[in-house]
Amino acid sequence: MDITLPQLPYGYEALAPHISRATLEFHHDKHHRAYVEKVVTLAKQAGLSGQTLESIIHKTTGSKKHSELFNNAAQAWNHAFYWRSLRPGGGGAPFGKIAELIETEFGTRQSFCEKFAEAAITQFGSGWVWLVLKGDRLVISSTSNADTPLAHGQTPLLTIDVWEHAYYLDYQNERANYVNAVLKHLFDWEFANQNLSSLKIAATAHEIKSHS
Ligand code: FE2
Repeated sequence: MDITLPQLPYGYEALAPHISRATLEFHHDKHHRAYVEKVVTLAKQAGLSGQTLESIIHKTTGSKKHSELFNNAAQAWNHAFYWRSLRPGGGGAPFGKIAELIETEFGTRQSFCEKFAEAAITQFGSGWVWLVLKGDRLVISSTSNADTPLAHGQTPLLTIDVWEHAYYLDYQNERANYVNAVLKHLFDWEFANQNLSSLKIAATAHEIKSHS
C-alpha cells in the first residue's frame, strides 16, 4: 500500500491563535502533501514501494544515490510526528514520566524550556528541534533541513518544526514567539508519555524474548 498523507489529529482552527488555520492549511495540505507525493514517486523508482516511511528512511540514510528519497521520506515522517507533538490546550507543565525525566536531566521545567527554546531559536536555517531519548538520557537535539533522529539511532518524543513555513504567516521573522507559544500552549506531553510507554513495552518484549 502506498504511503498516504495522514489527517491532522485536530481541526484547522484548533491551534489558533498560536498557529492559524492558514498556516495549517498551507503547512499540512501543501508542504506535507508534497513530501508524501514525492516519496510515493521516488520509492517506486527505487523499488521501495509498499514499504513504511521508517523502512525507507533506514534504507536510504547516508545514500548519495537516494538522498532525494531520504529527504522526502524524512520530511513526511517528521511532519506526521510534529502534528502529533501539538494539541489544543497543551503546553505548560509536563506531567507523568516525561516530567520525571525532565527534572532528572534539566533540574526544572524552566531550565528545560530555556534550553529547548534556545536550541529552536538559534537553529541556523531550516530544521527541527527534538526532545529525544539517546540511550536512556533525555536530550534536546537539532537536525538540519530534512534530517531526522531516526537516522541517528535516537528515539523522538516531541518535536518542533523551525522551517520558516511553520511560522512565517503567523509570526513573520519572530521565530522566538512561535517557539515560546508552542512550549507554553501546544506541546502534547501526553504524546511524549505515550512514546515513552511504547518504548517500555518494546523493552519488556525484548527482555521476555531474550529470556525465553
Ligand atoms: Fe514543515
